[in-house]
Amino acid sequence: MLLHYQKHGKGKPVVFIHGFLENKNMWSGLISELHEDHQIITVDLAGHGKSKVFKEMHSMEFQAKKVMEVLDAEKIEKATIIGHSMGGYITMAIADLFTERVHAFCLFYSTSLADTEEKKEQRLRTVDTVEKNRLHFIQKTIPNYFRKDKKNELKVEIEKAISWAQDTPTKGITAALLGMRERPDRTYILNQLELPISIILGEYDLAIDSDTFKKVIPEKKTIQIHSLPTGHMGHLEAPEQTKELIQSFLNKYS
Ligand code: MLT
Repeated sequence: MLLHYQKHGKGKPVVFIHGFLENKNMWSGLISELHEDHQIITVDLAGHGKSKVFKEMHSMEFQAKKVMEVLDAEKIEKATIIGHSMGGYITMAIADLFTERVHAFCLFYSTSLADTEEKKEQRLRTVDTVEKNRLHFIQKTIPNYFRKDKKNELKVEIEKAISWAQDTPTKGITAALLGMRERPDRTYILNQLELPISIILGEYDLAIDSDTFKKVIPEKKTIQIHSLPTGHMGHLEAPEQTKELIQSFLNKYS
């Protein structure tokens, strides 16, 4: 069964892949102005939004394959891929396994690195927590994705992110946690590929270890790095700056 997805606009294809506890609605503010020049595809990943839970564990490779099925169904040979966080891990898997189908890509608040051993242990504890009380986990986790000293100003945005997360069933959440835990380090892809790559990071992001990641990003003309003064949720914390960065990347390279 195909992932649930939506198409908007006409032009060069761009696929937007959401992160953990999100769904395709996360991109609605951002994509509204891109329709004129691009064909935008937004997907609900396996176990998120309106897509079903397929397995106990949704590896990044499995999710990559499911996204490719959507491109096949739309007869799209090559696309630019933009992935938020876990969506970025999946973007890296697509760039690795389906290289010839990628025109350019953007890691939006994401990393090419694998989980540390400590993080892997934490993922298993989180699986337990989610199985015991999913709602409590969501309400505790989502606010921490936002810049700590701006949480009061961002109440509406936090509520929006909580409502997306509530559309994620327990088994979708645990399958994603187990899948992220298994992902390999794909930094070699950044070294090997000569594609345009944009990396957008948050200066106050507690979900991604941006400092460690920055140390391994190769210095290449094809890779641009940007930092925004946000937590993990640039699309909600700095929507205008995010729009500008993504638009200029797409205008230049897609
Ligand atoms: C995400 O937003 O997709 C997750 O926070 C990523 C992660 O837990 O590694």
